Amino acid sequence: MEGKLSRTAKKLTSSPIQELSHLAQRCNAINLAEGFPDFPAPLHIKNAAVSAINSDLNQYRHVQGICEHLAKIVKEMHGLDIDPLTDVAICCGQTEAFAAAIFATIDPGDEVILFDPSYETYQGCVTMAGGVPIHVPLDPPQWTLDPSKLLRSITERTKAIVLNSPHNPTGKVFTKDELETIAGACCSRNCLAITDEVYEHITYDNQKHISLASFPGMQERTIITSSLSKTFSVTGWRVGWAIAPACIASAIRNIHVIVTDSAPAPFQEAALIALRSPPEYFESLRRDYQSKRDYIVKLLAGVGFKIQFIPQGSFFLFAGLPENCSLSDVEFVKKLILEAGVVAVPGQGFFHTNNLSSNEASNADYNYQKRYIRFAFCKSETTLAAVSERLGKLLDAAGHLALH
Ligand SMILES: Cc1ncc(COP(=O)(O)O)c(C=O)c1O
Repeated sequence: MEGKLSRTAKKLTSSPIQELSHLAQRCNAINLAEGFPDFPAPLHIKNAAVSAINSDLNQYRHVQGICEHLAKIVKEMHGLDIDPLTDVAICCGQTEAFAAAIFATIDPGDEVILFDPSYETYQGCVTMAGGVPIHVPLDPPQWTLDPSKLLRSITERTKAIVLNSPHNPTGKVFTKDELETIAGACCSRNCLAITDEVYEHITYDNQKHISLASFPGMQERTIITSSLSKTFSVTGWRVGWAIAPACIASAIRNIHVIVTDSAPAPFQEAALIALRSPPEYFESLRRDYQSKRDYIVKLLAGVGFKIQFIPQGSFFLFAGLPENCSLSDVEFVKKLILEAGVVAVPGQGFFHTNNLSSNEASNADYNYQKRYIRFAFCKSETTLAAVSERLGKLLDAAGHLALH
């Protein structure tokens, strides 16, 4: 029956990293692989969802109040004026909002710039739409954007640039200069920007998230996507949105209606309460994550990981393998599961080099792509302490992690 699969489906094979996931399950490993919290969601939001269910809000629903709140929020945070009646599409999480944004704008053959490393789903969506992902490497160890690498990658077929800041997997928050470079490229080369801002409220050390849409000339060419998932620790509720110029938002809504019809009704009601959370909520979210970040950085640096970049936002640490380690990232994670009972994600799954000319690929040293492991620290203190305990049992005389 495989012959019956579409070309698209055949391209979307599961990654070898999924095997590690199965191994982790068999070994009952502590999960620092996946980017979802293992602690409860805020009570005021859960109560709102329960109350919506008890009020029998069980049917397809579009909660316009979400759009009104989002309009207020983007005005306060980014100075953007949007029309809540026309410029917002409520979707099932950022994931659907992003996919719909791609289907609303990308024709077969259109090129879409993705920064490398990047969150895995972008490439899949672009490919499903028949678009061509073009990867622009961010330079380690600080994951800096080299403007010349970006400008070189833009052609007359470039339709959009995808920007995820704060960034998964590195924890980078793009600097104002880098955002200016991206905005300048979009405006001068007449490209769209599609942003993924799911970590907009999770930034550290007084870093502030700036939306690319707030740069001159950008609002009319930017599709912002985001969701409740990370800000309110409810990744399973599936409420997200796209904010875009009216004709694009309308196209995204049309696609959303065909694909899923509506985001879950009770959780849209809870979104109304969530989005109205007081400033203290967002401050304590940041504070809590910052202390988890500090904990994991200290823990992993202490046992020998090479930490050259401290996350500025999101809740991932992209840790370099210990200096003298001869294992690849995948081999290392396998041993981490089997010997320490801890699972994280080998970094290579976030990298792509397919746009490099063979000359560039052979000249450049891209070995670093197999030298990182992504740890998700959106976990309870108990979970993080258990990781520390497990790693602590495997240290050599120098206090470094010794895997065999
Ligand atoms: C960068 C990024 N975007 C989007 C998502 C998914 O967001 P949602 O749950 O709203 O679909 C994730 C989840 O890990 C993510 O890391």
